[in-house]
Amino acid sequence: MTLRRPTPLVAGNWKMNTTVAEGVELARSLRAGLDGSRVEVELLPPFPHLVPLAEALRGGTLRLGAQNCYAEDRGAFTGEVSPAMLAGICDDVLLGHSERRHILGESDELVARKLRAARRHGLRVILAVGETEAERLEGATLAVVDRHLRSALEGLEEVREQELVIAYEPVWAIGTGRTATPEQAEEVCAHIASRLDELLGEVASTVPILYGGSVTPDNAAELFRQPHLDGALVGGASLEVEAFIAIVRACESQRAPRAPSR
Ligand code: PGA
Repeated sequence: MTLRRPTPLVAGNWKMNTTVAEGVELARSLRAGLDGSRVEVELLPPFPHLVPLAEALRGGTLRLGAQNCYAEDRGAFTGEVSPAMLAGICDDVLLGHSERRHILGESDELVARKLRAARRHGLRVILAVGETEAERLEGATLAVVDRHLRSALEGLEEVREQELVIAYEPVWAIGTGRTATPEQAEEVCAHIASRLDELLGEVASTVPILYGGSVTPDNAAELFRQPHLDGALVGGASLEVEAFIAIVRACESQRAPRAPSR
């Protein structure tokens, strides 16, 4: 296995929260605290917020992403948003989040089609994978993660640096306050790293692997100390300015490249 060298990333998944006005205010406060961070920081607000947030973040270092997109460029798909519409407004798109898989009924096949469509339009994809509690209890965690990775990534045209991020999010840890232990998170993230090597070849060493599921300022540092965790996908705590900034600081102190010593 080649030495891994991904850029650390902390992304805030706002889910279906905040009005546009509240979102703009939140983004401004986060920008004030986090512009110039030594790790990548990204906001994933609801669709109506993307245009005003692109404006509010212009000229800074925070990245902006959407929480979803559809698999076609245009057409009779009422209520959907295409990657062609997002390109030029935001940098990234989150796909395969467990709430989309389990509440909105998205199949592995649909996630794979969305990923290809997003790539056609130059959006970096944050692909979320992870098992339910029942699957973990059955001992099927690694098999489920493999299925999510293979169905989305097998047969892809060459992936280049900065085109893909993986987020490991055990469903039982999302929004429940039950974070995976650092050992549990590390075990699965290390497995993901070796599967990516196999599926993507050399570029795999540049693909960040995030953990998500009840990340807070209290547990972030211990998670970021694990060798195969390159950052976090944060839900609830990403809506609180101080908490999100504290999580980014924990990532900086554990993962950011050290300044050269004199
Ligand atoms: P949580 O959500 O941090 O509120 O658990 C994480 C996510 O679903 O991305």
